[in-house]
Amino acid sequence: MKHITVLKEEAIQYLAIKPQGIYVDGTLGGAGHSKRILEELKGGFLYAFDQDQFAIDYAKEVLKDFDHYEIIKSNFRYLKDELEKRHVKGIDGLLLDLGLSSFQIDDVSRGFTYLKETSLDMRMDQHQRLTAEEIVNTYELDELARIFYVYGEEKNAYKIARRIIDARPLRTTMDVVNICDQVNYKEKGHSAKRVFQALRIAVNDELTVLEEVLKDAVDLLNPDGRLVVITFHSLEDRIVKHFFRDESEEDPVLKRLPVLTQNTSKTEVITRKPIYPSEKELLENSRSKSAKLRALRRR
Ligand SMILES: C[S@@+](CC[C@H](N)C(=O)[O-])C[C@H]1O[C@@H](n2cnc3c(N)ncnc32)[C@H](O)[C@@H]1O
Repeated sequence: MKHITVLKEEAIQYLAIKPQGIYVDGTLGGAGHSKRILEELKGGFLYAFDQDQFAIDYAKEVLKDFDHYEIIKSNFRYLKDELEKRHVKGIDGLLLDLGLSSFQIDDVSRGFTYLKETSLDMRMDQHQRLTAEEIVNTYELDELARIFYVYGEEKNAYKIARRIIDARPLRTTMDVVNICDQVNYKEKGHSAKRVFQALRIAVNDELTVLEEVLKDAVDLLNPDGRLVVITFHSLEDRIVKHFFRDESEEDPVLKRLPVLTQNTSKTEVITRKPIYPSEKELLENSRSKSAKLRALRRR
């Protein structure tokens, strides 16, 4: 299935693109956002990151009519290093549209789905070593339970971890789903939804890479540069919200000085509340229902 870009025009609006600016799309995916950025650039340049070769091949086709861009096959956690290699010292905007694209979810062999029997993979980068299979078959009880509890907010984390350990070796997605079915039999939604979210976050180290890239992005932003992030679950959104708030807070000592009238922080949050998809978008694309956009501006 084709990937439908979420909050496309809202992301462009908050990036406030300067036609000659240098922009980074940290999550190229189906290239919907990248294409819109490229349409706005006149003399500017776009660097687009993705760690998934399939997404890159797909995106190249979508962007075939443009030439003012470069695709970088890398985790966006290496943003700073990759830009340094290219002698880029400052950027005017970074967009992150987190999570997976529809074609990754729909490709059963990638192991992201709890609806079909397939291998326990869940890697966004197919060259990475760690898979979901390795986690469920080798991690100790406490660590497995922690992953389910923290990354999945799964209240039966311990019970599920215990049963997984007793059932080893587990080979397919259904081996995990069956255990979740037994434990979460009262659940209204899918019994394995939270455990699969947790495994995916752990396999791809998603929360750590987000924290890392946010820090580096602020250092890289030129004055008036923008950082725009679209998240799909509360754990990601919490990280972005707190980072933006902390980064934009005034120095508590300077704040008390009567002579200072201007905010001294490096950045300001330009979305006081998160931006949600419109009614129209929600009707057209059910995947957009959990999306939230937040934006930050470098002073
Ligand atoms: C939601 S999709 C992006 C869709 C895109 N904005 C569009 O309009 O089509 C997220 C993409 O980012 C990639 N991705 C997620 N986390 C990444 C990371 N840490 N480093 C590099 N790519 C990542 C995924 O492989 C996926 O292709």
